[in-house]
Amino acid sequence: MNKMQAAKHEHWSSGFTFLLAAVGSAVGLGNIWRFPYVVAENGGGAFVLIYLAIVVVFGIPLLMSELMIGRKSQKPPLDAMRSFKVSKAQRLWDAVGWSYLLVPMGILTFYSVVAGWTLDYAIGMGIGTFNDLKEGESAQIFADLQASPAKLIFWMTLSVGITVGIVARGLKSGLEQTVKILMPALFAILVILVLYASITGDFVRSFSFMFTPDFSKITPELVLMAAGQAFFSLSLGSGAIMVYGSYLTKDISIPKMAVGVAFADTFVALLAGFAIFPIVFAFGVDHAAGPGLVFVTLPIVFNDMGGIGQVFGLLFFLLLAFAAVTSTISLLEPMVAQLSESGKIKRPRAAIYAGAAFWFVGIFVALSNNILAEVYPLGFIPLFAGMNIEGLINFLAANVFMVLNGMLVAIFVGWAVKRSVTLEEMGLGDSVIFKIWFALVRFVVPVGVSLIFLDVAFGIFQ
Ligand code: PHE
Repeated sequence: MNKMQAAKHEHWSSGFTFLLAAVGSAVGLGNIWRFPYVVAENGGGAFVLIYLAIVVVFGIPLLMSELMIGRKSQKPPLDAMRSFKVSKAQRLWDAVGWSYLLVPMGILTFYSVVAGWTLDYAIGMGIGTFNDLKEGESAQIFADLQASPAKLIFWMTLSVGITVGIVARGLKSGLEQTVKILMPALFAILVILVLYASITGDFVRSFSFMFTPDFSKITPELVLMAAGQAFFSLSLGSGAIMVYGSYLTKDISIPKMAVGVAFADTFVALLAGFAIFPIVFAFGVDHAAGPGLVFVTLPIVFNDMGGIGQVFGLLFFLLLAFAAVTSTISLLEPMVAQLSESGKIKRPRAAIYAGAAFWFVGIFVALSNNILAEVYPLGFIPLFAGMNIEGLINFLAANVFMVLNGMLVAIFVGWAVKRSVTLEEMGLGDSVIFKIWFALVRFVVPVGVSLIFLDVAFGIFQ
């Protein structure tokens, strides 16, 4: 043992605080910024239907698997993957453990840049930057932000600082305190926005847009798109759920928590659609505007609403910023827990080191929007051609390793860990539900996810 004592492994105060934190991790830019525009780009109802099916068949079983690894081991990801003493391929499982530490750091580099935009927009809405917009001005403001290295780095740094500050304070006084305040606030704001949008906007059209599936639109690409979105949105394959699971006490039901997280995350994504589409349809602006739906289209709509629009605009971007923070803390936590529980560095210092590391990489990611936009580090390899630094990190972290991690964890839980161990952790007895879950994790998830993986990574179905 080193001179210093390894940090003690803490626990959530209750199952409810765990839920707040895990839902906080899952609910993020993926739900409020990305989900609505991906739905719009993929024709509405058909995408939503497939998305829901994927959450049930892949999402919930994987959430249960990751929570189980965390809870059983009571350790951060790398140590967790080592603690099961499986008979074969320990090297591979170690590598997965490493990947569960590094993937969230990779995601943080670009996630923090977009989180920075939300801070810029929240403050901009507050001080009236978006009042009296002229034709084309909204797009120009967004383009100006992208073009400014100083602004992007400033906002990204602020987002990193907030994240490090919270994680440094530890589980109870950092993460728990934050989610206890931000999650109810997030939910309240969302409900206000949805009510307002459905009363004043075109609710009926939004409802049929989101829930009337046009079956002819279901293609392999759409399925894969939905799967990628579900993975990212449920925070799978990235250490967050696993490390949060490690702070669970034994009396809490893993299946119930997994269902709770999946349900809440999906509900919020749908609500985000109902906060955005009714007003977008009512004001006749393009609903399929891609990533600009939130940052370009919505400010125009808020502006058209008159005075009250500024209030709703401010609320909307605060909502996005809150959702981002409760996700970034879960992305930094795996590495910080691993460093501080190894007994060599104390938590605040671990948070600063880890934060400094991804902040540094984040600078290059931020600059990929402007001065480094056309620098392609691995451009000589055909698979990576055309990917700048941001594109490369995003692709490797979110498209390749996150999905690969999920698949390997399903194999680990389904095939390497003893069935008796999983049986006990799930607390379902040797029931039909347990057997269905086990079959999903052993066969359906690995096969299904390998297909997704091959496609997102190598585009085999495109
Ligand atoms: N689920 C978050 C979102 O939808 C992103 C995230 C991914 C958070 C992986 C933690 C881990 O925005």
